[in-house]
Amino acid sequence: MIKKKTIDEIFAAARVDDVIEDYVNLKRRGVNLIGLCPFHNEKTPSFTVSPAKNLYKCFGCGKGGSSINFLMEHENFTYPEALKFLANKYNIKIEEEVQTDEAIEEQKKRDSLLLINGMASEYFQQQLNDTEEGRSIGLSYLKHRGLNERTIKTYNLGYSPRDSKHFTSYAIEKGYNKDLLVELGLTSINGYDFYRERVIFPFHNLSGKVIGFGGRILKDNAKAPKYLNSSESEIYNKRKTLYGLYQARQDIRKQDTCILVEGYTDVLSLHQSEIKNVVASSGTSLTIDQVGLIKRFTPNVIVLYDGDAAGQKAALRGLDIFLEQGLNVTVVILPEGHDPDSYVKELGTSGFTDYIKEKGQDFILRLAHHIQENYQNDPVNKSIQIKELVRSISLISDQIKRSLYVKESALILKMEERTLFREINRNIKSDYNKRKNQRTREAPIPEKYVDFDPDQDHSQGIRAKVDPTQYQERDIIRVLISAGEQWFDEEQEIRIGNYIMANLEGVIDYTRDESFKLIFKEYASASDQGTVLDRQHWTTHENDQIRMIAIDMLSDKYIYADWSKRGLELQTQKPVEENYIKDSYQAVMRFKMKKIIERIEELKKLFASESSDSKDLILITAYQKLLKERQAIADELNMTVI
Ligand code: UTP
Ligand code: MN
Repeated sequence: MIKKKTIDEIFAAARVDDVIEDYVNLKRRGVNLIGLCPFHNEKTPSFTVSPAKNLYKCFGCGKGGSSINFLMEHENFTYPEALKFLANKYNIKIEEEVQTDEAIEEQKKRDSLLLINGMASEYFQQQLNDTEEGRSIGLSYLKHRGLNERTIKTYNLGYSPRDSKHFTSYAIEKGYNKDLLVELGLTSINGYDFYRERVIFPFHNLSGKVIGFGGRILKDNAKAPKYLNSSESEIYNKRKTLYGLYQARQDIRKQDTCILVEGYTDVLSLHQSEIKNVVASSGTSLTIDQVGLIKRFTPNVIVLYDGDAAGQKAALRGLDIFLEQGLNVTVVILPEGHDPDSYVKELGTSGFTDYIKEKGQDFILRLAHHIQENYQNDPVNKSIQIKELVRSISLISDQIKRSLYVKESALILKMEERTLFREINRNIKSDYNKRKNQRTREAPIPEKYVDFDPDQDHSQGIRAKVDPTQYQERDIIRVLISAGEQWFDEEQEIRIGNYIMANLEGVIDYTRDESFKLIFKEYASASDQGTVLDRQHWTTHENDQIRMIAIDMLSDKYIYADWSKRGLELQTQKPVEENYIKDSYQAVMRFKMKKIIERIEELKKLFASESSDSKDLILITAYQKLLKERQAIADELNMTVI
């Protein structure tokens, strides 16, 4: 765990504008900077960076947050990865909380493994480019296959020499640990190089670190495998890796599509032809983890299959996994005898792109056609195939999409829609029952906070149909987070946070939303110690949920949201930032109002349930007092009490 102190330091240094400027061309507009949003396609800029708030927000797609969030979104970093990236950018030394010895050892081990792979990759590249053997054998092979220097560099391709101990001797001489070399599969137990006379394709993780290698044989020697891939290790899990994703990720996002091919060389070839949103599954069937990786960047996938008929059906079946994960899949089958590498060479970039567009067939419909064409005279197998097709359709969670597929498929198969629908419903039901008990743990998705709805707002009179509890709680939290450290009364040295907390005594446990409760509790204990927690404390909070809430609330939409609509017109013309006092005061008042109303309702019920003479005078007095208070607060807040 990175120490809070370091996180604070990083946040203080990493000004949102400074960080984002590395990625987006920003122009000044008033107090803000604007540019074209990197997260969605737009022609007029709606991506706004506020240096004052140290936040960004896109008014087109709604993405927003701190510099850290930007990096998490843009680079697909995890939270700690983003922190480390910024620490590096700003030369901040990372101090970590004491970890268990075990965790430290594991991390050290992973770091060493990555270090060794990095060294090995450098070595292979150097062999390829700077040695006689590498150039005449490896480089000439790659050139012969049409790859240019730039592509070779982009993918860090390398060469392993013929000499069976060259790499291992080199590494050991440099002081690298032999056991780790063996563990990574670079060296055999007997001390021989694993890769000999092969061109080397390093595999990168999303931060660009080398986690493994594939080595292609140069001669077509039937005895040895064409590719030798690294064995799995603590840093390499082939089921969680897609070849070329590191190089393709920005383009996948930009084009909002990922092209999936089978081979390493297909990736290189398409990339070189300026079709850069391409990754390879590396010849194995896709895993959920790999689909999940793609999904982080786009929901749209185009799968390119080599044109050998045998592979087709098996390949198509592997695609269910995309549907299950909610991705849109298009399948393109290349002509017999071609793979993407050979075909892009034949057609050229625009020809190839046109081909994809033209032949791009939806996976489901493709399968329907396939069945119709191949099983016409085989009703038994046809029905088995149709059942499988329907299974695939059942996996689609979007109902509209599902029924469109049924209609189309029914047309292709010359069947009644009804029959297909019935089968689908059966599948869905049984799937539902199966899944009910085996829900996988999902990453917490932050609740989307609906903005104030004037129709349901109590400022229109106290007759809100919807329980307004959440509004007030959220409002208080918003003020705490956005203005807690501001002065409420400077002379008395009371900050807004202190003021609010003092007025909320006894209410905290009443909070229903767990995250809100946590925020209150943390705030209260800080307040007890005489301090208040600032914005940064929340936007850098270790709890994902709380961090998201803070960012959400600090983004423009929630700051001083439509006061006027609620009859709470600000009386001064000061810029909003200076209205914290009024804001916090009103938030507390509204909160109190809610409590009073609740109490009034309770008493009303009590009175209604008992005979009038049992009405306790004390209760009646309390009731009247509450009504008065309600009126007073309503007057304050400019509300109408009915
Ligand atoms: P291909 O045989 O299509 O390889 O296998 P390729 O990448 O297109 O290579 P070229 O164009 O013939 O030189 C597709 C993928 O299957 C995996 C590799 O990931 C390869 O890129 N594979 C294939 C292996 O891992 N080992 C093998 O022996 C063969
Ligand atoms: Mn191939």
